[in-house]
Amino acid sequence: MSKRINYEKALEYWSEIPATVDGVLGGFGFISDIDIVGSTQFLQSLFSLENSPGREVALDCGAGIGRITKHLLLPHFNKVDVIEPDQKFLNEILNYVGENSSNVGKLYHTSLQDFQPERKYDVIWNQWVLGYLKDEDLVSYLITCRNTLAENGVIVVKENITSSGKTEADDADSSVTRCLKQYTKIFKQAKLKRVKQCKQTNFPNGIYPVYMFALIPVKDHVSENKHENDLL
Ligand SMILES: C[S@@+](CC[C@H](N)C(=O)[O-])C[C@H]1O[C@@H](n2cnc3c(N)ncnc32)[C@H](O)[C@@H]1O
Repeated sequence: MSKRINYEKALEYWSEIPATVDGVLGGFGFISDIDIVGSTQFLQSLFSLENSPGREVALDCGAGIGRITKHLLLPHFNKVDVIEPDQKFLNEILNYVGENSSNVGKLYHTSLQDFQPERKYDVIWNQWVLGYLKDEDLVSYLITCRNTLAENGVIVVKENITSSGKTEADDADSSVTRCLKQYTKIFKQAKLKRVKQCKQTNFPNGIYPVYMFALIPVKDHVSENKHENDLL
């Protein structure tokens, strides 16, 4: 199903969308505050983990105008880098973030499937963007993210999930909405395991259910065993 995705078509779609909260949320700007409340609770639950992520630097992936950077990540991290392929959205980020814009770091003007990280991150936040990637590119991208995590770093995925149990395509913006089983398979292929999973509450009826996943690298048993043997 995700083979139908056409990257140029998706970027053309976004190039026509105004650089506003309502624009990046497809006319659902009114759910932004509820979304941020749910994300804040989820992020804080990660800071309570035994091996909790650091608070130095986060990455906002498919950032749009920096809605998540401003309201969720900058209040919790010293620095936030962003990835966004649309130049108009990228141009708006510092303006939208406002007074804390000096804490916005690198603006990667690229698509996730072409992302080449330049540093390590404590939290890598992916929201309402992974549906624009073909399955095989999503696996490669998640492996890139896994390899660029700081110690105890966490990848967060917050995405729409179908209720039908099947992946559904949207030709208007050339995206897919995956089912839970498909994400589970993709996380496994990227050698990531879920340490937390939570469904967003208080969203209006009639939209896709939204899930948050916290992912960490699966330990490499071969090298772990080797290490244990080396110690014997
Ligand atoms: C629904 S908006 C979400 C924006 C932001 N994550 C938020 O929640 O406010 C989707 C964003 O993904 C970006 N996008 C689309 N295709 C992308 C790709 N292949 N790689 C990275 N970003 C992409 C769009 O330009 C747009 O900013």
